[in-house]
Amino acid sequence: ETVFVNGELMDRKEAKVDIEDRGYQFGDGIYEVVRVYGGKTFTMKEHMERFYQSAEKIKLHIPHEMDELTGLINRLIEANSIHDGIVYLQATRGVASRQHHFPASDVKGSVVAYTKEVPVPQSQMDQGVTVKLIEDVRWLRCDIKSLNLLGNLLAKEEAASEGHFEAILHRGDLVTEGSSSNAFMVKDGVVRTHPATNLILNGITRRVIRDVAGSEGIPFQEDAFTLDELLSADEVFIASTTSEVMPVVKIGERLVGEGHPGAVTRKLQGAFRKRIE
Ligand code: PDD
Repeated sequence: ETVFVNGELMDRKEAKVDIEDRGYQFGDGIYEVVRVYGGKTFTMKEHMERFYQSAEKIKLHIPHEMDELTGLINRLIEANSIHDGIVYLQATRGVASRQHHFPASDVKGSVVAYTKEVPVPQSQMDQGVTVKLIEDVRWLRCDIKSLNLLGNLLAKEEAASEGHFEAILHRGDLVTEGSSSNAFMVKDGVVRTHPATNLILNGITRRVIRDVAGSEGIPFQEDAFTLDELLSADEVFIASTTSEVMPVVKIGERLVGEGHPGAVTRKLQGAFRKRIE
């Protein structure tokens, strides 16, 4: 397996992380997950732009130009002959003696990437999945794709340990997003999702869905919805790089609609697929 570490492609066995890397000690860094379909990246530019934007929001300098990093990632996919999979890309504030404030400016950020095969979750996309509602206890900068994911992990673990695919998070009465996805509801043919504020990650899949909804003539509102609205929705789905458009058929013990993926969700799934092919 070939991986990318600080400007070089190398065998995974050669790759090392310093015990004082700030990503390892503090979660002081950011990341991206990019989809690979048929050996080619999907929405790479959007992911790279968000990567640099996240870095800027935490005042982290990425020691590579975007074009250079994009080229290296493409080489990585080729080196590992990835067909349907993902690229994981991460940057941390580098290695320095442990102290909370940022290290001197001569300490370079660490950038690593690896690829892996991840099949499209077809049967779950066909049948739909179940979710659990969990209070969103994360910080107020969820727009940053930060390595600090404890709030997300605790929610996902609680949902997964009870057999659910995802946790849908809410701050008080308002639904924000999933633990590793964005959340959507459909009522009377209108798709709704939380606006791209500091309370959610502005998903790339979410943006493709908004775009696809536009071209399919499906009304799409970036307008937060309540738990009651979610529970009385006609359809619910979640979306992410790895899950695409994933129907939700049950929330806790409660069926969504009739308990089957809905017509609008299906239409969006189909139109999303066409963007890939
Ligand atoms: N998760 N919200 C959160 C909290 C996420 O972690 C993700 C993605 C999304 C969807 O974003 P996108 O459509 O750009 O993948 C929304 C990735 C896949 C992960 O952490 O593995």
